[in-house]
Amino acid sequence: MRTASLSLMIAAELACLAVRLPAAEPSYFREIRPILQRQCQGCHQPNLKSSNLDLTTYEGLAAGGKRGPAPALIVKYLTGEMKPQMPLGQPPLPAEQLALVRDWVAAGAKNDTPAEARETVSSDKPPVYTQPPVVTALAFSPDGKTLAVSGNREILLHTLDGSTPPKRLSGLSERILSLTFSKDGSLLAAGGGTPARFGEIQLWDVASGKLRHSLVLTGDTVFGVSISPDGTRVAAGCTDNTVRIVDTASGKELSKMGAHENWVLGTAFGMDGKRIVSVGRDRSAKLTDAATGAFQENVNLLRGELSAIARHPSKEIVVIGGDERVPYVYMMDRPKNMKIADDTTLLRKLPRQDGAIAALAWSPDGRRIAVAGAAPEVNVYDPETGALVAKCKGHKAGIYTVAFSPDSTLAAAAGFDGMVRLYDAATGEMKKEFVPVPLVQASVAWWDRRSPCVVCQPDAREARQTTKGDGLSHLGAQ
Ligand code: HEC
Repeated sequence: MRTASLSLMIAAELACLAVRLPAAEPSYFREIRPILQRQCQGCHQPNLKSSNLDLTTYEGLAAGGKRGPAPALIVKYLTGEMKPQMPLGQPPLPAEQLALVRDWVAAGAKNDTPAEARETVSSDKPPVYTQPPVVTALAFSPDGKTLAVSGNREILLHTLDGSTPPKRLSGLSERILSLTFSKDGSLLAAGGGTPARFGEIQLWDVASGKLRHSLVLTGDTVFGVSISPDGTRVAAGCTDNTVRIVDTASGKELSKMGAHENWVLGTAFGMDGKRIVSVGRDRSAKLTDAATGAFQENVNLLRGELSAIARHPSKEIVVIGGDERVPYVYMMDRPKNMKIADDTTLLRKLPRQDGAIAALAWSPDGRRIAVAGAAPEVNVYDPETGALVAKCKGHKAGIYTVAFSPDSTLAAAAGFDGMVRLYDAATGEMKKEFVPVPLVQASVAWWDRRSPCVVCQPDAREARQTTKGDGLSHLGAQ
């Protein structure tokens, strides 16, 4: 008895100690913010403030939504004590994440974001550019009047006749890696994300320039967004080796296909929207049922990693390409009883490119295929004969995206050098080139300043990089 009560006393003593020891205070910047980014920002962002709550910044969280400052409410919504439980429509946060949020709130919900990392995502404050951004996605609107171009944290809608300045659609994702319009031009779907943080599918209403839905998914960017021919669904490739299918009306995920063994980088719906072909780093082009996600067959014979796919505008035929540099034209369907390693569905091999293939486009009239990638040129081929029709030159570095105008006369391309170039698709002649974002003159960059302190004080170099304003304020502070 005595020993038992003694050990009880010791246990109680220890428990008291545990309570008295301050728990390590979770960091908003390092621990809480990534959780919110991944699980909450799709709905609680400046463009879509569910319950008037913006969780993209600390200020938004502190200000709160309809029911007041969020630090007082957030744990209750996460546990389901207040309904509906958050994140809405998704499984509750894992216990360790919930514990982090709870401890952070209990410790006073402090903001430890370093000054230089205070980023704001706001549609009233479009990104500022001092140099052209790497352009990763382009799409022509179906009426041929608008060219959608990816920027940093935004999409720019350029009128092709240049009559009005571009409309700017700011969103959450640092990068937009694919863009596609619905056939009627009313919807613009974008896929991207912030690398190593989250992936996002954005669905924009083109006429109003308003974000209809944002779906934040996985812990990395999403790739190769495509839209079903009837505009009801969007498919995207993910780094968790899945293809996600999303309903465009509700913004909700409908199904997930998991037949790939590595990142999925490109998707294309079949003509009737019932099937999808996806390509990825596992080297395969997989045909799956779009409704059930059931894997049907591999379209291709495995060769190199695949990063791009485009479908013929009116036939169940796709062109695929990637690391191996050769664009392959395949029938989507393999006849029954075909043997493994039979490649009879291969219709054509186009010539090998000078670099890995990053982008493919099939012209709306079906008569041309454009190929681009690590080599700084766009090659346009006749898919019937495999003949090179045009070589489009002028890019100074790799190309990430290529698109045909709706009348098939123009090919637009962009990439690493930050310029959008429009070519005559029949001759390869460059018709126009432009920087797709407004550039501001960088007030003399810090490394150009003729000031002795960088030389005599090597530390000053770092201080300047992180100091706002003129970069010299550290001098006054010393
Ligand atoms: C799919 C969309 C969606 C996601 C994802 C989501 N929320 Fe919400 N959230 C809502 C909606 C809608 C409401 C309003 C609910 C109501 O009052 O009926 C809401 C309300 C809230 C409120 C109450 C705000 C107020 O003052 O009224 C809090 C707090 C909140 N969410 C936190 C979170 C957190 C934290 C996450 C991530 C872990 C999250 N939400 C993820 C849609 C979402």
